[in-house]
Amino acid sequence: MILWAILGYLLGSIPFGLVIARALGLGDLRKIGSGNIGATNVLRTGNKPAALATLLLDSGKGAAAVLLARWLAGPDAAMIAGAAAFLGHLFPVWLGFKGGKGVATFLGTLLALDWRLGLAACGLWLLAAVIGRISSLSALVAAALAPFIALWLDGARMAGVAAFMAALIFLRHRANITRIVAGTEPRIGRKT
Ligand code: G3P
Repeated sequence: MILWAILGYLLGSIPFGLVIARALGLGDLRKIGSGNIGATNVLRTGNKPAALATLLLDSGKGAAAVLLARWLAGPDAAMIAGAAAFLGHLFPVWLGFKGGKGVATFLGTLLALDWRLGLAACGLWLLAAVIGRISSLSALVAAALAPFIALWLDGARMAGVAAFMAALIFLRHRANITRIVAGTEPRIGRKT
């Protein structure tokens, strides 16, 4: 199991947003917009394909960790690898353990653990985004509800994994929550 935790962590710790932004000459994401290394902040550079690539790769690394572990070692290893990939995104050794907020990796991990759960979480994110136009708020809605959906679809263990990741997503969005409450959180694609 420790092997899957390490492998998941290493996969998750690849900061795709940072790498893509740097490779395309968009600058250091940590000095742009919210300073986050995720797709929402890549979008603030104005480069939509780069934001989409970040979203796909950040979610894909969570999914890849789960699928690889499940294929080679079964469902328990898959849960550990997925949670570890999520932790890798939040605390990457390469960036002094200062990583992202984990939303895309959370969604990718859930999709691979149970596609119905992942689809429900993505759907909630999308619905909230269409209504509110605020990425962080959409993430908080999806994260808050995912553990309950996991409990309903898959039982207590999956709900525990989802709740663990959701709690960390809330912790990582503290500044966003303050801005949402103050009404100053930027809409999707806007810099301020
Ligand atoms: O996926 C991260 C998102 O929920 C918030 O990102 O850059 O607006 O803090 P940001």
